Amino acid sequence: MKSLFRLSSLAFVSWAVAIPYEEYILAPRSRTLFPVSIHSSNGSVSNPESLTVSPGSATFEGDSATAYDFAKNIAGVVTLEIGAVSDAEQYIGVTFSESSLWVSNQSCDATADAGKDEILWLQVTGPGRYTAPREKERGAFRYMTLVHDTIGSVEVTSAEVYFTPMPHWEDESLAEYTGYFHCDDELLNRIWYAGAYTNQMCTIDPHYGNSLVHLFQILPGISDATNVTWYHNSTVTNGSSALVDGGKRDRLAAQGDMVVAMPGVLISTNDIISIENSLNSFFGAQNASNGQLPYAPPPFPSGLSFTYHLYALIGVADHYLYTGDIKYLTSLWDKWKLGINFSISFIDDTGLMNVSSAYDWLRFGMGGHNIEANSIFYYTLNRGIVLAQALNDTGPISLWQSTAERVKAAANELLWDEAVGMYIDNETTTLMPQDGNSWAVVSNITVNSSQIESISKNLVDRWTPYGAPALEAAHAISPFISSFELQAHFLAKNVTAALALMRLQWGFMLDDPRMTNSTFIEGYSSTGEMNYPPYVNDARISHSHGWSTGPTSALTFYVAGIQLRSAGGKTWRIAPTLGDLKFADAGFSTRVGFFSAKTQISESGWDLEFEAPEGTTGELRIPSTACIGKVALQEASGKCDNINVEVSESNADPVTVLGILGGKWRATCTCG
Ligand SMILES: *[C@@H]1O[C@H](CO)[C@@H](O)[C@H](O)[C@H]1NC(C)=O
Ligand SMILES: *[C@@H]1O[C@H](CO)[C@@H](O)[C@H](O)[C@H]1NC(C)=O
Ligand SMILES: *[C@@H]1O[C@H](CO)[C@@H](O)[C@H](O)[C@H]1NC(C)=O
Ligand SMILES: *[C@@H]1O[C@H](CO)[C@@H](O)[C@H](O)[C@H]1NC(C)=O
Ligand SMILES: *[C@@H]1O[C@H](CO)[C@@H](O)[C@H](O)[C@H]1NC(C)=O
Ligand SMILES: *[C@@H]1O[C@H](CO)[C@@H](O)[C@H](O)[C@H]1NC(C)=O
Ligand SMILES: *[C@@H]1O[C@H](CO)[C@@H](O)[C@H](O)[C@H]1NC(C)=O
Ligand SMILES: *[C@@H]1O[C@H](CO)[C@@H](O)[C@H](O)[C@H]1NC(C)=O
Ligand SMILES: *[C@@H]1O[C@H](CO)[C@@H](O)[C@H](O)[C@H]1NC(C)=O
Ligand SMILES: *[C@@H]1O[C@H](CO)[C@@H](O)[C@H](O)[C@H]1NC(C)=O
Ligand SMILES: *[C@@H]1O[C@H](CO)[C@@H](O)[C@H](O)[C@H]1NC(C)=O
Ligand SMILES: *[C@@H]1O[C@H](CO)[C@@H](O)[C@H](O)[C@H]1NC(C)=O
Repeated sequence: MKSLFRLSSLAFVSWAVAIPYEEYILAPRSRTLFPVSIHSSNGSVSNPESLTVSPGSATFEGDSATAYDFAKNIAGVVTLEIGAVSDAEQYIGVTFSESSLWVSNQSCDATADAGKDEILWLQVTGPGRYTAPREKERGAFRYMTLVHDTIGSVEVTSAEVYFTPMPHWEDESLAEYTGYFHCDDELLNRIWYAGAYTNQMCTIDPHYGNSLVHLFQILPGISDATNVTWYHNSTVTNGSSALVDGGKRDRLAAQGDMVVAMPGVLISTNDIISIENSLNSFFGAQNASNGQLPYAPPPFPSGLSFTYHLYALIGVADHYLYTGDIKYLTSLWDKWKLGINFSISFIDDTGLMNVSSAYDWLRFGMGGHNIEANSIFYYTLNRGIVLAQALNDTGPISLWQSTAERVKAAANELLWDEAVGMYIDNETTTLMPQDGNSWAVVSNITVNSSQIESISKNLVDRWTPYGAPALEAAHAISPFISSFELQAHFLAKNVTAALALMRLQWGFMLDDPRMTNSTFIEGYSSTGEMNYPPYVNDARISHSHGWSTGPTSALTFYVAGIQLRSAGGKTWRIAPTLGDLKFADAGFSTRVGFFSAKTQISESGWDLEFEAPEGTTGELRIPSTACIGKVALQEASGKCDNINVEVSESNADPVTVLGILGGKWRATCTCG
């Protein structure tokens, strides 16, 4: 009776919060996880498969090992339940790996360049439950191998993992998303949900952060070592949850990573508190005298990055855009202004910031009048003007405006190559970077749309069978920078290119057998090999990195077309652009309320239902399809007059209907 009651009350809870398409959500429904299947087994192990799905009984004798597969990337603390042991001197070792490449009975995959991480040994003296110490939770793994290497035997009756990400959410609510996405392409659907889950995997208890025990230890040949110590027990932020760069590593709040992760979080879980805890840690570590923000906050050693400094400022602007929380913005505003002054102080007589530190997203050649850093700077100044207006702090606006105008003029004068149609990295090179060109479009440092189109086209021409390469990082594929490239294609109005890149690069990142089919890798080679040029040790690469989740927000913002324009959605835009898709449906909640847009395209026209909270206003960009005809807009409650629009061939730009009040709307277009 008790369990029946429990089941029905759970069913009620999930009914109460059910959102569409929840079968795609990869987050586990319970924190206690069992392996799903066996990857491989060697030596004498009886019934290893009995430990899959539920407890069982497997006896390990002599040299023996079984590798288990959880079928997706997970994270947490392992508990082994032990039955019979031959004597009190028995051990079971546990190794972990995200990729199938590093499944081993000798070591885990890696958290540093120093080699592979050592086996976690548990001494099992007799029957009972043996749980790893908390600092030995593993932050991301799909494979877990049990190893026995002595004379004698051990009966394992359960191999469980207690799932530790999203520590501040109720145990059975990990899949209770506040947003959803669906379209008529299953691969894109999987990509959206894998991005959302990747960000959950990167949301950790901040008391168990920082996996960099052996940071900067790169010794010749040492990456063959299989005995590298690992643990994570540094406190990386205040509060009880933090959004960090990666699950396995580095388990540090990182502002660059968050610029891609934050919008993905907003539209899937709306987990704002974890974002705040991480943002606060950046500003807590700000140099109060010159305004410099850290490359990464302590315990990471202090360092200066021109771009990461700006990303922290953008994080605050995004927080305000996503929440409309003016109190939070006010709490950081003086630090924000001090921070922008720090960047302004690096402008030289060219009008551009002169970058004097190499730290960035691990690209090479960062320095001088760098186009990426200056585009991000231009973008940040413009975001600052909007924040200053929201706060009625008009004092700094004219300086920021004139500074932005100078940066834009100088970037185009010194760094634009008209013959090729791209920006150069700085005026001493012919290298045309992926990061700087993507950011030039995202930031609108470009002066006309033909620049945008030409950048988009040139970036497409560089693709390899594995994705979009970053020439500025030895041609590595960076899903972080490609997340900005995606936006550049949408802004160039080439939806086909954006969807093609998602399918090519993120499809590979899901479907290749070396990947986890559930979370997104931080970087790899443009030849499809699992090596990432900044690292000497391939086993170090993180397969669960929030900075690689760009498609998730891009699909909601650009394809389904729900865009917040101010203060948590006080104003908004609905602008579906489906490319080759026929159907797209998305929705999400902010503090202001619920937003959704569902577009269906058919041969005879299209149909769009959208919703925005009462008290807000927005605009509709009529979907541009081959179809021309009459568009009728109707509000469900009848509180607003119907709106009729004519779409004719002469409308070069998408027709925009302004001043639409929040409510439940339906727009239909019948061709002809
Ligand atoms: C350990 O792994 C190696 C491959 O790396 C394999 O050849 C060997 O059989 C395994 N040994 C045991 C006892 O599982
Ligand atoms: C078992 O041996 C095979 C072949 O050497 C190896 O690929 C696999 O990783 C090993 N698995 C375990 C659990 O030792
Ligand atoms: C770890 O292994 C390397 C070689 O693989 C060896 O040089 C080193 O001494 C070992 N360190 C420890 C602490 O066992
Ligand atoms: C972290 O864990 C390591 C290894 O168990 C231990 O040596 C160290 O003292 C711990 N540090 C903190 C801050 O708890
Ligand atoms: C934690 O909060 C304290 C007090 O507000 C602050 O001084 C400190 O910088 C914060 N630490 C982090 C890591 O955010
Ligand atoms: C903070 O900035 C001042 C310059 O204004 C500098 O002298 C000082 O070293 C900086 N502090 C740290 C910890 O970097
Ligand atoms: C930033 O610089 C401007 C111009 O030099 C100055 O007026 C302002 O007080 C500075 N702001 C902060 C917060 O230091
Ligand atoms: C300019 O860019 C090139 C290519 O990225 C790089 O090698 C060079 O170091 C940069 N110049 C400066 C001054 O940083
Ligand atoms: C800014 O001014 C407007 C108009 O006076 C006012 O409604 C609003 O509350 C002010 N905002 C802040 C943050 O003070
Ligand atoms: C981008 O900049 C151009 C001027 O260079 C301006 O006309 C346009 O409105 C800007 N676009 C946006 C979205 O701000
Ligand atoms: C859009 O991108 C596709 C690649 O997906 C490319 O073939 C096409 O030429 C691009 N269109 C324009 C107008 O640049
Ligand atoms: C990958 O995951 C999806 C669910 O997201 C599943 O349907 C599919 O079978 C998995 N693919 C493989 C090869 O396991």
